[in-house]
Amino acid sequence: MCGIVGYLGNGIAQESLIDGLKRLEYRGYDSAGVAFHEGNKFSMARETGRVKNLAEVVQKKSSSSSLGIAHTRWATHGAVTVSNTHPHRSHDGKFVLVHNGVIENFSPLKKFLKGKGIQFTSETDSEVLCNLIAFHYAESPKSEERFVDAVRLALPQCRGAYGIAVLCLDKSDVLIGARRGSPLVVGLGDDANFIASDASAFVGRAKEAVFLNDGELAILRGRDFRITTLEGQEAQAVSHPVDQISEEVELGDFDSYMEKEIFEQPTALKNTLRGRFGDDGTTSKLGGLEGHEDELRDLDRIIFVACGTARHACMVGEYLIERLARVPVEVEHASEFRYRNSPNAGKSLVIAVSQSGETLDTLEAVREAKTKGLLTLGITNVVGSSLARETDGGVYQRVGPEIGVASTKAFSSQACLCAMLGLALGRMRDLSPMDGQAVVEALNGLPDLVAHVLQQAEQIRELAVKYSKAEHLLFLGRQSLYPVALEGALKLKEISYAHAEGYPAAELKHGPIALINPDCPCIFMVEGTELSAKTIANMQEVKARKGQVLAIAPEEIEIPDEAADDIFRLPVAHEVVRPILANLPLQLFAYHFARLRGLDVDKPRNLAKSVTVE
Ligand code: G6P
Repeated sequence: MCGIVGYLGNGIAQESLIDGLKRLEYRGYDSAGVAFHEGNKFSMARETGRVKNLAEVVQKKSSSSSLGIAHTRWATHGAVTVSNTHPHRSHDGKFVLVHNGVIENFSPLKKFLKGKGIQFTSETDSEVLCNLIAFHYAESPKSEERFVDAVRLALPQCRGAYGIAVLCLDKSDVLIGARRGSPLVVGLGDDANFIASDASAFVGRAKEAVFLNDGELAILRGRDFRITTLEGQEAQAVSHPVDQISEEVELGDFDSYMEKEIFEQPTALKNTLRGRFGDDGTTSKLGGLEGHEDELRDLDRIIFVACGTARHACMVGEYLIERLARVPVEVEHASEFRYRNSPNAGKSLVIAVSQSGETLDTLEAVREAKTKGLLTLGITNVVGSSLARETDGGVYQRVGPEIGVASTKAFSSQACLCAMLGLALGRMRDLSPMDGQAVVEALNGLPDLVAHVLQQAEQIRELAVKYSKAEHLLFLGRQSLYPVALEGALKLKEISYAHAEGYPAAELKHGPIALINPDCPCIFMVEGTELSAKTIANMQEVKARKGQVLAIAPEEIEIPDEAADDIFRLPVAHEVVRPILANLPLQLFAYHFARLRGLDVDKPRNLAKSVTVE
């Protein structure tokens, strides 16, 4: 994983690089480092922990160099130590390199280089790549293109994924980047050009962004740049305006991005919904699906591929789309789909859902689906992301940047878009205009209902205080509230490190009930349907075993006193929006639970916002 950024320009690199790293911290924050080309040597600074630790050191050292590379790390090979922190320098001091990805065959390459007498100072795969470039450079005849040639010779020897930025001591005006599997984008500004993992790293400093494709090299020389293939052929450079790619993000009065993003949901959902309904008020109109109507009308099955929270949103979609459109839906872990030999006979549509649009497993699942000739659509939040560029069509979430590692507003908008997709597909098939109209009204009313639930945040805080000593919690729900149970458990464990599991409520009897004791609270999501009686019976089973029950239930459902210790009420709502509403108290519960433990909810240990390794 990790975030990389490189600067080559007329000004001083230091500030742009540190600023860029801060914006890339969502990609990992185990350690951070920077290297500057100082004419006859590289100066370096590397620190474990957050980018702010590095920033303090860099500020004291103060380099005036106008060429540098920087990295924020999410450890894959080797512990979180200074020596494993990027940039890595080659044994002869000629090259420095930053790398995002995993070189799978680094062991045999390292053995080969060791056989040539090269010593290593880290446990990383990245240092191996840096030395491999140095090795080829030393072997190549002197020429103007010697640096580029060395990179071109080294990369085909690597298996796995990489996005790299590399500097050569002999070239004080050249910065080279290359990608395979991991994203890389060139930023073009008036005073400087950049290479980075994503465009947020140079927002405000570059005007145009050029996304690299797999197997491409970006060669920045002075104020010029060119994109070539690894084999040396010129490649097309399509530029996109940077201001349409990413926005500045201010924390405002909130004490964390997670809190801010939870409370932003009414506005975020308004943006997701805006202008996306047909004039007759009975269906949705998703621009990104235009041109695919015939294929969509004729579908045999939908396969969702996603990871983490996005997959839970897809599972909500599974229930809603099957209910509205009567199309069979499967939800796959993207990492499983890509290696499965699943029979894809018939007219299947693959929908990949990813907030960042850069999750490697999800992208690889899309690539696999395309290899099999399937139509692919993407639901993503990040404009210009790899997912947006690689799918046949798709829909943007429009919820603004999500910074907190624990996904909140993105989940709500993804589930909302799944409902809108179900509505569109339903209206192409059997769904009546009246049923369609009811769904449109429910979705249009969603932002206000979300605001209403969030106004009761204090009650959730009090419940979090009551249950905050628990180390094991169960989340239970049926039908479209089952994925909400999974998401509630995921949110809690991600940021509070308490152990939590989500189950379909009826599965309680098939194992989890053995865990019930007064110290293992059960959080039940109660449906607003006839199924609620069955869920309430499950709650009674817990109470009969001296367990504690917190029920999240719609206002209209009566809950006997003896069935729950606490009840949080949700407003009366249409079934398509209930999962989104039921998830809100769980977001707030996890948030307060973690805060009460004094934890950093935005940057939980070991996690990263965007997972760009397998
Ligand atoms: C990481 C994040 C999760 C996120 C998942 C998928 O694990 O920590 O919050 O749900 O990746 O991310 P995506 O960007 O593909 O939605």
